[in-house]
Amino acid sequence: MTDGLHSNRPEVSPGHSEGVGHVPVLGGPIMEFLDPKPGEVAVDCTAGRGGHAMQIAQRLGPSGTLVLIDADAENLAYAKDRVLRECSGEAPRLVGWHANFVETARRMAVEGLHADVLLADLGFASNQMADPDRGLSFSRDGALDMRFNPAGGGRTAADLVNTLSEQELAEILRDFGEERQAWRIAAKIVRERGNTPIETTSQLAMIVRQVLGPRGGGPRIDPATRTFQALRIAVNDELGCLRSLLEAVSRCASGIGGGMTGWLNPGARVGIISFHSLEDREVKRAFGELERRGLGEQLTRKPVEADDRERHENPRARSARLRVIRLTDSR
Ligand SMILES: C[S@@+](CC[C@H](N)C(=O)[O-])C[C@H]1O[C@@H](n2cnc3c(N)ncnc32)[C@H](O)[C@@H]1O
Repeated sequence: MTDGLHSNRPEVSPGHSEGVGHVPVLGGPIMEFLDPKPGEVAVDCTAGRGGHAMQIAQRLGPSGTLVLIDADAENLAYAKDRVLRECSGEAPRLVGWHANFVETARRMAVEGLHADVLLADLGFASNQMADPDRGLSFSRDGALDMRFNPAGGGRTAADLVNTLSEQELAEILRDFGEERQAWRIAAKIVRERGNTPIETTSQLAMIVRQVLGPRGGGPRIDPATRTFQALRIAVNDELGCLRSLLEAVSRCASGIGGGMTGWLNPGARVGIISFHSLEDREVKRAFGELERRGLGEQLTRKPVEADDRERHENPRARSARLRVIRLTDSR
């Protein structure tokens, strides 16, 4: 799965950690397919540094409503400020929720909001990867944390590597990192933590490099890449969250969501940007199922990928895949 790995892009490219800290991917196709219109209601489930939110806000205008969600409080605040600042008086009504996007349907129902557009740009933002305190990067020494919402409790990556059984660790590395040497790495982790608890990114990266050797990740990929990706996905339950969001969309489209029915308007456009094949598989399956049941039409027959220029200018874009579905007009 090398071409789909998050980390096939450089972990942080210098230009991206400056300024806003994140260059949004696939901006053109997102606007084309999601097509936000003046006065509509849009939800950005992963506000990040507000790049996509800005584009959407400009289309919605002052008569529209933009709901911004992020598990990372700092990113959410940044995105809100940025939209307000850059829309200079023409911003839509802004609603910000520091929350996991699995909460979207419930919160929309509570607030009586109905979305015409929904976007989720999955994974991490470059500023998070660049911050050693977040523990996401194998090339920056820091506490082995990896949580998108450090204030929200839950287990850190250090908790996982120091407490899970060898089998549980190997399964995480195999399933979420598609790491062929999962069992060897897991065994080494368990041996090493018997001597000293594994608390930092450098300690973990060193252990993996010792097992795989300096070229063990493949050409131009650090050997620790897959292990870090796998742990990040496990710590944040990234696939579980995605499934839950897709199920909420599907329930709403089916009109069987009880009190949640209606949080997406008929005709709503839903776009998901994924960065590895595990995520894209979930989106493909869910959107395909909606289409088969006559509940939506996929606007992207194949996942949309970045063109050569964007891939060159923004290495993050190399593994990005966008799928968009338009829910049917009547239910
Ligand atoms: C790829 S970045 C989004 C970048 C954004 N589109 C932009 O243009 O700046 C992903 C963001 O989603 C957030 N995130 C990831 N998983 C989340 C979840 N389950 N719930 C809420 N936010 C999440 C991360 O904290 C990060 O800020």
